[in-house]
Amino acid sequence: MRRVRRAANRILVTAALPYANGKIHLGHLAGAYLPADIYVRYQRSMKRDVLFISGSDEHGVPITISAEQEKTTPQAVVDRYHALNKAAFEQFGISFDMYSRTSLPLHHETAREFFLQFHSAGILKEKRERQLYDEKAKMFLPDRYVEGTCPVCQNPEARGDQCERCGTFLNPTELVNPRSKITGETPAVRETTHFYFPLGDYQQQLEEYIKAADARDGWKENVLQYCRSWFKEGLQDRAVTRDLQWGVKVPLRGFEEKVLYVWFDAVLGYISGTKEWAERKGQPELWKEYWCDPSTKYVAFIGKDNIVFHCIVFPAMLMAWNDNSSEQYILPENVPANEFLNFQGQKFSKSRGWGIDVDEFLEEFPPDLLRYTLATNLPESRDADFTWRDFQARTNNELADILGNFINRSLTFAHRTFQGTVPPRGELSALDKELLNQIKAGTIHAGELIDHYRFRDAMLEIMNVARFANKYFNDSEPWKTAKSDPQRCATTIHICLQTIRSLAILFEPILPFSTRKIWTMLNLSGNPLDAGWKTAGELALVEGHALGQPKILFTKIEDEVIQKHLQKLPPTTAQDTSQQRTAIKPTITIDAFKQVDFRIARVLTAERVPKSEKLLKLRVSIGNEERQILAGIAQHYKPENLVGKKIVVVANLAPAKLMGQESQGMLLAASNNDGELSVLTVDADISEGSIVK
Ligand code: MF3
Ligand code: ZN
Repeated sequence: MRRVRRAANRILVTAALPYANGKIHLGHLAGAYLPADIYVRYQRSMKRDVLFISGSDEHGVPITISAEQEKTTPQAVVDRYHALNKAAFEQFGISFDMYSRTSLPLHHETAREFFLQFHSAGILKEKRERQLYDEKAKMFLPDRYVEGTCPVCQNPEARGDQCERCGTFLNPTELVNPRSKITGETPAVRETTHFYFPLGDYQQQLEEYIKAADARDGWKENVLQYCRSWFKEGLQDRAVTRDLQWGVKVPLRGFEEKVLYVWFDAVLGYISGTKEWAERKGQPELWKEYWCDPSTKYVAFIGKDNIVFHCIVFPAMLMAWNDNSSEQYILPENVPANEFLNFQGQKFSKSRGWGIDVDEFLEEFPPDLLRYTLATNLPESRDADFTWRDFQARTNNELADILGNFINRSLTFAHRTFQGTVPPRGELSALDKELLNQIKAGTIHAGELIDHYRFRDAMLEIMNVARFANKYFNDSEPWKTAKSDPQRCATTIHICLQTIRSLAILFEPILPFSTRKIWTMLNLSGNPLDAGWKTAGELALVEGHALGQPKILFTKIEDEVIQKHLQKLPPTTAQDTSQQRTAIKPTITIDAFKQVDFRIARVLTAERVPKSEKLLKLRVSIGNEERQILAGIAQHYKPENLVGKKIVVVANLAPAKLMGQESQGMLLAASNNDGELSVLTVDADISEGSIVK
């Protein structure tokens, strides 16, 4: 593997604090919580000191809106979802050491302490600004709660932060005819004062920090990409206060009507959550061992929408604290953010009823089935998809037919032929040795993969050990040797039983519930975690050990069950339907594909084609040649915005005439039925003329 890591014997793991404003769904699990849990369970099995912290993020405007809609208080909303989500995580086997919440006084104190330290160190900038105020709701309106006409393209439904039609970033005060999304009223403009954190002052330090952490611990490429693009834009001052009632009150005279911005307090929830854990343990200072000891390794698991806050904002806040205090916080050594999980080919959507909540899922299926399917589909480097069919196939063909089958047939055989005890081990055959080697190698390799945040591959590796074991049983034919060579038969079953124990240890991070059942079937005391990862390759079962009773571990899922769920899905909208149902074209060979010559082209000039609403005329360079390309993208791009872009063109397409002008090639673009279109572009460091394949 690429890098040698610092041996970390104390590890702090956090997983993003989900908003207590809705239920956890499968996408959340695959994004942050399951990978974090697999990582933590493995580290515990390696006997490393690991602490796993998360909790509910209980502030922010959407929670206050929910409360208003439900005619209740924000506290009532977060109380309900905190309890629901905490229970769902538990049921799913997420083994947090602490699942805290940000409405606790301890958290408020922690957040205020940070704010006050920044304020008294003179770090924060005070800015006076004009903002929209809803007189009826008696509140300043956050960007997203204002709608109006876009000053650029006249779209009547532009949002306060951005016009989705033309893409222009907006200030709510720039909207023509603004209206409040809360009351529908026309808001007034009022002056207000806010505090800003000067993120730009930390840019250089942040870039160096990420570079160094990446060099030590190998950051994921998707995460680095996000950070680079933020750095390229240049970091700006960020407001850290809001005119709201719900949240952590700003602890300054004259600012009683303001609260801290939800993200400012939320990331500090990791620290206050650790403090709460320490208090409950009766050792209130213990949290410092995790946060303030440079030999602790801190890993923050999140989904990709949280990258900027964890890789840039939070580290900058900790840097600012460290500059002004003798108490020094450690920074994340890695932020392994996942991409998104889709559900049956589409985004999870609460409003459309698309997807399934964790609690609902677990009412019907055991958690380990879901853990396994999600683990094999983690969106580690690109978006992934959960489908009911895949869930059925993984459960039936892998968990039941491979792992469950191997365990069941081995134990049943031991009961039938060896009175339910571990038979003696004779001399080992080449095949016996090969299985034992596979286990040893798999243990090491899967462990390395987990240490490198490659949970999907680790999963495959471990299931492959089970697959090999199942084949070993077949190839050894113990039902034949039972008569022809009883000693050989005893050795085979002995090895099978040892392998079951090994598999229980290796699968523990993914299948915590089933592996404990396996442990009981082997009649072992404690659990696979106590035994520990490092003993997975040992022949630890002693001859004559009395086994427990075999039970069915994984029940297969019938077609009807899957059918029922597919039928329950809400009808899809036109756009979704077309995306989902447009059949993939017939298979072609690689040779057929290679006939198309895709090239990187740089746009030199772009202009409208007179009398055409749709066409733009581009001049592009494909290395040592220039081309004129006509493209039907005038409704989506302003010509000047295309100049300089690197795009992908088909360079060997027969020329065609459009509106009397020649087009010498075609550019690639993606569109959907909503009328959205995007030209494919590439990173600027690929030179024009490069072949795309
Ligand atoms: N509540 C945020 C979300 O669900 C995540 C907050 S992570 C924290 O997107 F670090 F800020 F807590
Ligand atoms: Zn617009």
